[in-house]
Amino acid sequence: MDNLIEKLAESASYIREKAGDKKIDIAIVLGSGLGELAGKIEKPVIIDYHDIPNFPVSTVPGHKGRLVIGRLENRRVICMQGRFHYYEGWSMAEVVYPIRVFKMLGIKNLFLTNAAGCVNKSWKPGDLMIIKDHIKLIADNPCRGENYPELGERFFDMTNCYSPELIEVARSAAKKEGVDIKEGVYMLFTGPAFETKSEVRVAMLIGADAVGMSTVPECIAASQMKMNTIGISCLTNMGAGLQDKALDHIEVIDTGNRVRGIFERLVREILRSWPEKMI
Ligand code: HPA
Repeated sequence: MDNLIEKLAESASYIREKAGDKKIDIAIVLGSGLGELAGKIEKPVIIDYHDIPNFPVSTVPGHKGRLVIGRLENRRVICMQGRFHYYEGWSMAEVVYPIRVFKMLGIKNLFLTNAAGCVNKSWKPGDLMIIKDHIKLIADNPCRGENYPELGERFFDMTNCYSPELIEVARSAAKKEGVDIKEGVYMLFTGPAFETKSEVRVAMLIGADAVGMSTVPECIAASQMKMNTIGISCLTNMGAGLQDKALDHIEVIDTGNRVRGIFERLVREILRSWPEKMI
């Protein structure tokens, strides 16, 4: 089977068979160090990626590879515990495969989270940031190649790729939870190398506040499919050259663990206040 739409349909029908036919409101992608939230989902149905026909399988330490489906707050959610990254060798189309499956499942809302490096000197590790927009200067794009009209248009708008309405929801949720949230621009790098000091300076100069290795492909695929998308970054470290020590993945995971409680409260409040008309 080499038709993408047929593959997606096969993956979706497997998930439906395991999780039941009930409508799912929101798909959540959990970033490095933030995966624990999936453990809080009530009455979960858990599906390993490697059991889903046509699904890629994640290889990064700290990333589980499974879908958790159930209730969180008042919402029915499907949660990716572990995502696919370009640096693992997946094509961008493979990276966004699960997002397209979610669309096939009838899901209209996407909640992206990630761990990112902070390149805004006024902020600090442990801060959370609402992604207002992103920058992708690398040449590849998940929608490159044959266009499938079932997924959307060949050329599609990215003006509001992070839903202004959901940004406002996140702002209010943070206020309600007493979280000092930042808002900024996320810039994609391929990884797996962290950025050089000069790349971090370029990112700052062209208007980025955070740098990272994920989220942008998923947001682009979701935009083509007209899904409502929100993105939250956990700024786990200062970008290279902005802190007095070298970067490592341990720091990323440790900071994720440190802010886990605040992050969870924020996500829960965002889910509770997700506009009904989008559900
Ligand atoms: N750069 C890129 N990706 C990251 C970083 C970083 O500094 N921290 C966490 N993910």
